[in-house]
This record gives sequence, C-alpha cells and structure tokens, in this order.
Amino acid sequence: MRRRIDSLRETLHKEGLEGYLVSNGANMLYLTGFEGGSRLLISADGDCILYVHRVNYDAAEDAVKDCEVRRVDYGDDLERVLARRIESLGLKSLGFDVMDAQTYMKMEKLLRETELKPRRDVMWALRKVKGEDELELLREAAEITSMGMEKALEIVEDGMVERELAAEIDYEMRKLGSEGTAFETIVASGPNSAYPHGGRGDRRLERGDLIIIDIGARYGGYCSDMTRTVTLGEASPRKIEIYEAVKEAREKALRIMRGGVKAREVDAEARRTIAEKGYGERFLHGLGHGVGLEVHEPPMLNPKSEDILTPGNVVTVEPGIYIRGFGGVRIEDTVLVLEKGVEVLTRAPYRLVVR
Ligand code: CO
Repeated sequence: MRRRIDSLRETLHKEGLEGYLVSNGANMLYLTGFEGGSRLLISADGDCILYVHRVNYDAAEDAVKDCEVRRVDYGDDLERVLARRIESLGLKSLGFDVMDAQTYMKMEKLLRETELKPRRDVMWALRKVKGEDELELLREAAEITSMGMEKALEIVEDGMVERELAAEIDYEMRKLGSEGTAFETIVASGPNSAYPHGGRGDRRLERGDLIIIDIGARYGGYCSDMTRTVTLGEASPRKIEIYEAVKEAREKALRIMRGGVKAREVDAEARRTIAEKGYGERFLHGLGHGVGLEVHEPPMLNPKSEDILTPGNVVTVEPGIYIRGFGGVRIEDTVLVLEKGVEVLTRAPYRLVVR
C-alpha cells in the first residue's frame, strides 16, 4: 500500500496537485487495504488520513498500516472536518475522484483557498496497470471462476430454472473461496439469451435453448468475468453459425492483442469478423472492459475508446450476437495484456452442445 500511495504522490507532483481526496470505496481499498472508510485525504508531501465512521473504526485500525486513521462519529460534519484539515495543510489545489453535487457545492463554499479539481483519471491511471501482487489475486479469482463454469457445464439440465443454476454456480464459487460474486450471475436461456444482461431469471431451461452463462468470482477484492454459451441436445444450423462467428471474432481479437495496440482496433477486428457474417448490427456492446477491484473499469474496448492497451492491463474479450426473439451467443474470457500477446486467465471448453 505504501508503494501505491507513493505512486499517487508522484502523479500529484507531476500534475501540479497538492493533495487528493478519495471517496470511492475501491480507490480507498487500493490505497489503504481497507474498503470501509468514509474519505481518504492524501497530501502530495506526506500526510495520509483515512476518515472512518465509528462502526468501522476498529476494523480500520487493525487493517491500515500506512495512514493515520481518524474516527468519524454520528453528528460530525465530515465536510467541515475535511475542510479544516485541508486548510491547515495549506493545500491550494485538491484533486478528487468522485463527489456528489451536494457535497461538491458544500466543499466549494467551505474551501476558500483551495481549488477543487475533478481528476478521477489519476486513480484510473494507477489502477489499470496491475502489479504482481494484484495479478496473483486476479489469477485466483479467474481460477475460481473457471471451476464455477466447470460445475455449471456439468450440472446444466433441462427443466432447471435459470436462477437455480445461477445459485448452484454461486454456491460452488463461494465454497472455493469467492467473496460473494463480482456481479450478479447471469443465466439467460432461450429468448432471454438475446438480452445481453439476461431476463428475470425465472425461465425453465429447455432442450435446444441457447443458454448464456456469465459469471465472476471475487478474490482478495479482485473480480473476474467469463461467459460460455451452451445448448442441450442438438443445435440448429443457425445457432451453430452464430456460435462459430462469435468464436472466430474472439480468436481474431486475441490474435492482435498486445501492449501498444489501440483498444478500439481490437474491438474493430472482432466487429469486422461478425459483420462479415451478416450480424454486425447484432453485436450490441463493446468487445470488453478492464477488470480489477471493480468488474467494469478502464481500459475500455469499444469503437470509441481512446485507450491504448498496456502490459499489465487485465481486460475481458467478449464478442456476442443477439437476435431478438431467437436467442444470443456470447463467449468471454478475462485476459492479461502482455508485451507480446495475452495470457488468458479464465479457462473452460468452447463447445456449443454440452450433452
Ligand atoms: Co464482462
């Protein structure tokens, strides 16, 4: 954590910021190792103060090594406390990650000598390149996710309700060490599979359905994200055609991925492959997104992305085709960007018909 705070300070110096105020829980976790803080105030020249509500104070004191922990109590005016500290530290320019409008207006009024600057990009620049310690946790999250998928492919059966299969997967991943899930598990079958985020989860699986299974474990705070699409029994020629198109898009995208490549070019490669098969309009989302302490973070792989892939980025690759009323196919893996190519972190077969 010390190293991460030092990196933030380096950035602050470079960007001409005298301090930084953190309100986002994942950013606080990244910098202090503790998620339950209320605010984190860091000066470019040495102060690091984590403000923690009474309910989490003991836990914070036990967990946080590199920052001063300050208790916040019922009735304390946290903005006023912060403003006083910011003023006593003499911080003339203060970057911050997020703040709701009401808090921002209040802080503006309280801070007469300090300029507030919305700079969430400062934190993203740090977080989007993963260190070895983070990669270890991301690999474990991916491993648990892969075992969850293995379980799913083993037990998926017609007659099962979507939600029931989701629950079994979640249970399996929890037993393997997952901290809850990175997001709500999606099992979307038949016409529901045409919605990228699934339906209500109450449909019974039928033979011949396209079934999208999108899952992610969380380990040490780090997320994972993977999808397989399967069918039970026989797949119609159209389903096979869609599946093969998505699979090819995935392979082509992975083939050109490496440090230095524009994220939107990787998206374009997958999109072109799907468009050539006549389904360009049915690829309803970007090719992928960064994964870390949050399941959707920069860099983004989509047609408008300005991101350039860098070694240490961990991103999803998830082409999909969705045909309303018919069904959809998505295949997704979480991958680590390397100087030359990628390392695929999640693993499970790419097979449409499971049994
Ligand atoms: Co995803």
